[in-house]
Amino acid sequence: MTEIVTKVKRKLSPKTVAVVGFGNIGCGVVELLYIKGIPGLKLVKVVDVDLQRKRKVTLPPEMLSSDWHEVVNDPKIDIIVELIGGIEPAKSIQIAALKAGKEVVTANKKLLAKEGQEIFELAKTLDRRIGFRASFVGCHALIHEFRQAGTAAKKFRRIYAILNGTSNYILSAMTRDGKTFEEALKEAQTLGFAEANPSDDIDGLDTASKIRILLGLISNSYHHAAEFPVEGIREITSHDVQYAAELGYSVKLVGVIEEKDGVFSVSVRPTLVPQISLLGSLPGAYNGTEIEDEYGVISGLVAPGAGTYPTADAVVKDLLDIAEGRPMLMPDSAEPIVLGPSESEVRRYYLRFSVVDESGVLARICNIFWKYNISIAAVIQKEATSENFVPLVITTHMAREGDIQAAIGEVDSLPVVKAKTKIIRILKSDT
Ligand code: HSE
Repeated sequence: MTEIVTKVKRKLSPKTVAVVGFGNIGCGVVELLYIKGIPGLKLVKVVDVDLQRKRKVTLPPEMLSSDWHEVVNDPKIDIIVELIGGIEPAKSIQIAALKAGKEVVTANKKLLAKEGQEIFELAKTLDRRIGFRASFVGCHALIHEFRQAGTAAKKFRRIYAILNGTSNYILSAMTRDGKTFEEALKEAQTLGFAEANPSDDIDGLDTASKIRILLGLISNSYHHAAEFPVEGIREITSHDVQYAAELGYSVKLVGVIEEKDGVFSVSVRPTLVPQISLLGSLPGAYNGTEIEDEYGVISGLVAPGAGTYPTADAVVKDLLDIAEGRPMLMPDSAEPIVLGPSESEVRRYYLRFSVVDESGVLARICNIFWKYNISIAAVIQKEATSENFVPLVITTHMAREGDIQAAIGEVDSLPVVKAKTKIIRILKSDT
């Protein structure tokens, strides 16, 4: 019966949609809405500043415009899909659309991470909805979990997530095929995963935006939490991926959200995870999420993290939620999100030193570790191939991040240490 009523309702009132941004994702959305056709949704206009560019799909000229004001001011349009990306004019478009009484759907992780407080607050005040599944397409299925959490059932204790396809592609290619960082990045760019500015991918910024959006959902707050540690994969060398593999780990770029007594620990960093775990075995441009609820139940999710069709599909799912009157999941309060200091976190670490190959070096490092109560779990050193220095890798047992930082500060000031020590955390992954 519900099904019949929904179908009738859809037939009577299709929602009119305008897409702003006719790039790769825009083309995918147009293909789904206009070429394939989705009942309940009617694409009426597509806006892009460059209408001359050759695209995979062509539209009649009357459906095209180069001025976003035209669609935002058109009372016949119900939903604006913003697919431009970046901060401006995307922010102005979303705000104008909400103020004009329209709903908004977007893939813009950068904007929601930076300006989400203002945008979600405005949407709440105006009783408008924002669909943003496509902004974290690699784990948007979590929306279902969060929806339940929002209504009572359970809270989440931690999320470990690989959320950037480009970085995962690079690290996988370095590990599996012995590719250099540069070769692997070029391939990811050719395949169309990378952001316009690949620094967003490899410096961890894209992952950080997605983690911030997830933090908002987990805490049900659009409060803009303080900055958290973000480190990318530029300094990961082929030595690191090889040594990690010898020790049974993969190097991955992992976003972490952990909650204890209302205080969140949040970070994005290169991380060693067991090779045989869900995250450690994640190939290519895939995204993966390991999530633990308050009862200690752990579940995992793997999905494509980038690409035209996965992203367009996430956009359409949001459009259907709006068209079919389902409640949208949006952070709902301005309750401050409290982040704890990372120095007090206790983890295991992988440390790569660049040291002179001579007597007493290991002894001096061990002495400093002893002072800070850091216990060594494994040591790897290969015979030197360079006259100047040799990579020495040490993994530790559980240690306070503050102690590790202080110890490495001292180690790096020893004359036998030739370059800044690379610190990579080790996470136990349970799936
Ligand atoms: N550049 C992003 C990635 C695209 O590589 O995952 C999807 O957000």
